[in-house]
Amino acid sequence: MTKVDVIIIGAGAAGLFCAAQAGYRGRSVTVLDHAKKVGRKILMSGGGRCNFTNMYTSPDNFLSKNAHYCKSALSKYTQWDFIALVNEYGIAHHEKTLGQLFCDDSAKNIVDMLLTECQKAKVNIRTQTEILEIEKQESGFKIHTNSGEYICESLVVATGGLSMPKLGATPFGYQIAEQFGHTIEATRAGLVPFTLHDHDKAALSELSGISVEAVASCHNTSFKENILFTHRGLSGPAILQISSYWTPGETVELNLSPNLSLLNELQQKQTESPNAQLGTVLSHYFPKRFVQTALSYFNLENKPLKQYQGKQLQQIAETFEQWHLKPNGTEGYRTAEVTLGGVSTEQLSSKTMESKLVPGLYFIGEVVDVTGMLGGFNFQWAWSSGWVAGQVC
Ligand code: FDA
Repeated sequence: MTKVDVIIIGAGAAGLFCAAQAGYRGRSVTVLDHAKKVGRKILMSGGGRCNFTNMYTSPDNFLSKNAHYCKSALSKYTQWDFIALVNEYGIAHHEKTLGQLFCDDSAKNIVDMLLTECQKAKVNIRTQTEILEIEKQESGFKIHTNSGEYICESLVVATGGLSMPKLGATPFGYQIAEQFGHTIEATRAGLVPFTLHDHDKAALSELSGISVEAVASCHNTSFKENILFTHRGLSGPAILQISSYWTPGETVELNLSPNLSLLNELQQKQTESPNAQLGTVLSHYFPKRFVQTALSYFNLENKPLKQYQGKQLQQIAETFEQWHLKPNGTEGYRTAEVTLGGVSTEQLSSKTMESKLVPGLYFIGEVVDVTGMLGGFNFQWAWSSGWVAGQVC
């Protein structure tokens, strides 16, 4: 039987960061993870370069049943605090776009930094450890694992969400929450590609690999970024972003000409080059392969511009600017970057992440019902929530 002050379940972004903070306070900390390797999602993230935070992080970048819940942690440990730590370690990084900071070299820099922090704070990390049972004791908890029993005062659950089971994701954190009487907000895949109904898929799959800038909208929320046609459906940043706001059966509106009025352009070209074919003109604004497929998908005739009446040009522009697409579904947790929903914030302190029902029990990171948009926000939530819990657990 091993006795420690703090047990953290999950050696991912939030768990490792929290462990170091608690260790620096002089707490004896052990992190348990069932996986072979720590921080696997960090290593995979940002195409191997880890988009570790966003310079413009604000509470508006998060979805939760309680939109205010994330404010406290985000303000106590900010993106600038994490950037300062990254700088302290000399990790070269750059802004890719929209405030998103990526490592120049490799996501491994971030994992190595977290492991060095844990080492400095004398944290003990045990991988390949299955947690069999958690018992509440008069004061603290008893954790039964496949490699012995632990007794701890504080138990921090940092098991992440359900996305990418092959990287070690499990519903264990939700089960612990339920065991102790916590409510779970319904979970679903977020930041995930859309799949299409058969007729759309058949018509659009030949566009696989083509990317166009667009505004994707659903529920009064819009994202202007690229969309990518894939052999299964639609992906790309604008689609991943809007997927977190979409629910099955709904329609997504896509404006494929977000920077200029297509009607103005078509009217102008009609005057300048009346004999130019519609397809030729559209190829000035979209990839050629896209135009060919789009004309047939949208049932548009390819005639010289002079043969179109004003109303028809308007309809063509609207077809491209207000494409109403009903996805068949999403690719699900297999490829989702995050899990929406999770442990309800209602029964958690926003200042410390501690359970209001069971003193000494904490939930941090993605397991909680706080989900960031695409762009480094999910890691910032892991750092911020891990840091605040690490000050008190
Ligand atoms: P995380 O998932 O990091 O860690 C959970 C840990 O708990 C894992 O080590 C797991 O093995 C362990 N665990 C689970 N069940 C267990 C059990 N039953 N027993 C013991 N241990 C258990 N975000 C971002 O901000 N920028 C980005 O670039 C990306 N990119 C990205 C790419 C890909 C492919 C994915 C899947 C996700 C991203 N994300 C991202 C999201 C980001 O990775 C995610 O939000 C954080 O890793 C969440 O941190 P946590 O520590 O909460 O969970």
